[in-house]
Amino acid sequence: MIDGKKVLLSGMQSTGIITLGNYLGALKNWVDLNDDEGIECFYAVMDLHSITVRQNPAELRKNGRTLYALYMAAGLDPVKNCLFFQSHVPAHPQLAWILNCFTYMGEMNRMTQFKDKAAKHADNVNTGLFTYPVLMAADILLYQADMVPVGKDQLQHLEITRDIANRFNGIYGDVFTIPEAYMGKSGAKIMSLQDPSKKMSKSDENPNGSILLLDDKDTIMRKFKKAVTDSDGLIAYNDDKPGIKNLIDIYCAVTGKTVDGAVKEFDGMGYGKLKEAVGEAVADELAPVQAKFNELINDKAYVDGIMKENAAKASYYANKTLRKVMKKVGFIELPR
Ligand code: TRP
Repeated sequence: MIDGKKVLLSGMQSTGIITLGNYLGALKNWVDLNDDEGIECFYAVMDLHSITVRQNPAELRKNGRTLYALYMAAGLDPVKNCLFFQSHVPAHPQLAWILNCFTYMGEMNRMTQFKDKAAKHADNVNTGLFTYPVLMAADILLYQADMVPVGKDQLQHLEITRDIANRFNGIYGDVFTIPEAYMGKSGAKIMSLQDPSKKMSKSDENPNGSILLLDDKDTIMRKFKKAVTDSDGLIAYNDDKPGIKNLIDIYCAVTGKTVDGAVKEFDGMGYGKLKEAVGEAVADELAPVQAKFNELINDKAYVDGIMKENAAKASYYANKTLRKVMKKVGFIELPR
């Protein structure tokens, strides 16, 4: 709790430009909370997590700035929310170290994302990748978060966060708030345009599978034109037609229309027309975000100011928890 408000924390890694899936499934829902007076929201650019796979320094820097500007361009208010870089708050890796000592090898070994990523990056299975969930636990617990909006793929990490927090509290008393998954208004799950059985992902090898938030209109239209559908030519919303279902989900998420309404609207249309309509709707939705982004990315002084203020705010809350933890564990406070 902060000033009687519940605390919510989330974030994304700064590994490449986020997709329409990240936007519709997460960011847009965060923006809806701007005016919720009952919740204090923290959103971080999780750049420390990004280096669990090898990054080019110039690209990591660029991706970090891009994601930060996209948070704001999408509508996250940097005064009502705390928007910060994980690497600007040293308490994150500090707490992560301590929590490492309260986490078991067996627990980390069970993490399905670790197994997937280790298989994908077999040449670089580093211990940071292994303890990734512990850093994530630190991200959450430092702010005494009550709520964490996460996708299904992160639920296992949230569960381990709760286990670690409960274990720590069991030994030292009530230090951490036990966080819960926050399921907002059904965050749309957007699938790859090329393989609708897979989540849309920025690391997809096939660039046509994902709409990136900074794709221009021509690119958006071209990718939708190539989207996988099926062969019967009928527009209906069900699991036997995953490609069509995904297009309708995207259309509804950006227009705010209902599935029934959309299905009626497209009834009798060919797939070409459907794809064009969805492409247009997406381009219309992203145009103002991109315009705002271009403004922000060219206003370094303004963004840097926001960055500084927000890092100070995040540090204030994070350090409060960290000091408490260090005292409980038995470290000596530096005499003032
Ligand atoms: N692991 C998350 C992801 O890849 C990103 C993340 C890092 C996160 N720390 C977090 C999400 C804390 C929520 C809360 O999506």
